[in-house]
Amino acid sequence: MKGLILSGGKGTRLRPLTYTSAKQLVPVANKPVLFYAIETLLEAGIFDIGIIVGDTRDEVKQAVGDGSRFAGFASKIGLDALEIRITYIYQEAPLGLAHAVKVAQPFLGRDRFVMYLGDNMIEESIRPLVEKFRLAEGDCNCQILLKEVENPQSYGVAELDATNSNRVVRLVEKPREPVSNLALVGIYMFDHNVFEAVNAIKPSWRNELEITDAIQYLVNAGFIVQPQQVRGWWVDTGKQADMLEVNRLILDRLEPQIEGVVDRDSQINGKVVVAKTAEIINSVVRGPAIIGEHCRIVNSYIGPFTSINHHCTIIGSEVEHSIIMENSQILEIHGRIEDSLIGRNVVVEKSPIKPKAFKLLLGDNSRVGIL
Ligand code: TTP
Repeated sequence: MKGLILSGGKGTRLRPLTYTSAKQLVPVANKPVLFYAIETLLEAGIFDIGIIVGDTRDEVKQAVGDGSRFAGFASKIGLDALEIRITYIYQEAPLGLAHAVKVAQPFLGRDRFVMYLGDNMIEESIRPLVEKFRLAEGDCNCQILLKEVENPQSYGVAELDATNSNRVVRLVEKPREPVSNLALVGIYMFDHNVFEAVNAIKPSWRNELEITDAIQYLVNAGFIVQPQQVRGWWVDTGKQADMLEVNRLILDRLEPQIEGVVDRDSQINGKVVVAKTAEIINSVVRGPAIIGEHCRIVNSYIGPFTSINHHCTIIGSEVEHSIIMENSQILEIHGRIEDSLIGRNVVVEKSPIKPKAFKLLLGDNSRVGIL
């Protein structure tokens, strides 16, 4: 079986970060979201992985490389890193999830495959579901993963047969009148019949080839589409709040490890990772939290559910429940920074020059909350 990870798209909901960078590379607990997708597939026994890339292809290629960087993860699960094969597939425009499948046909051939949205994260292993699909060759053409949600209006949802909950009847994209509370998780399994579907469907009102339409085509054409309910958490990290939520969930299962320097005037409480070459000086770090390599935390408070990526400097400031990306600086800010997603190479500082005023240089669609 093969894997197909979608790492193109527009990422409009995460602007301005996505003007300059791929949303799939936003770090959660200091690791890009996309890496979790790759690891989930490897763990499920899928080593031949195609990655759909768009405008941000160079950055994605640079981050993932040929897969050899997953050697450490591979050996932990008893896999030879040489078995990992990564193929990049260029999608010239983000014309929909089903369009991405179409573009990937030469890579996928007649193999069964798992399609994984590169900005989705899931708690559970998908190994048992992949195994089930692998063994069901001939009996099942498509398997969709579903999760009960409280606000089905915001998702693509599946309606199951009232008399046979193992049969999907209908898929509806963001239903105004909810037909069910089972949202489609961004992980799908298909056999080659999906190509008939993606070639038959027409673009939707938003000019995208929708994967829900392709699956509906399979249902209508009599192919077997089976639902599988997911019990653990699932997060689609498309928005800031979701990114912070998944950061919280991942940090919660952190293995504490202090490899960097913590001076005698500092206090570390709870589950905290301080990477080697990081320095904590006269500061309090309350976990779960992770501080990346070459960070300097001086006279500061780092609160629970905070990820600070490598080469950041925090001086005289308080940060909690936030993601700070690499190379950023927060200097002498009075008032706690909370629920924030701060990009790369950002400087937030107390203005040293008069007049005493807020001085901002913000990209389009930035959002700043000031006390
Ligand atoms: P979405 O989050 O549905 O779309 P998007 O990335 O364009 O974001 P927004 O709605 O904020 O503008 O995409 C889900 C995943 O699939 C994500 O990882 C991007 C990827 N994708 C592609 O690779 N190609 C596509 O044509 C589309 C629409 C998405």
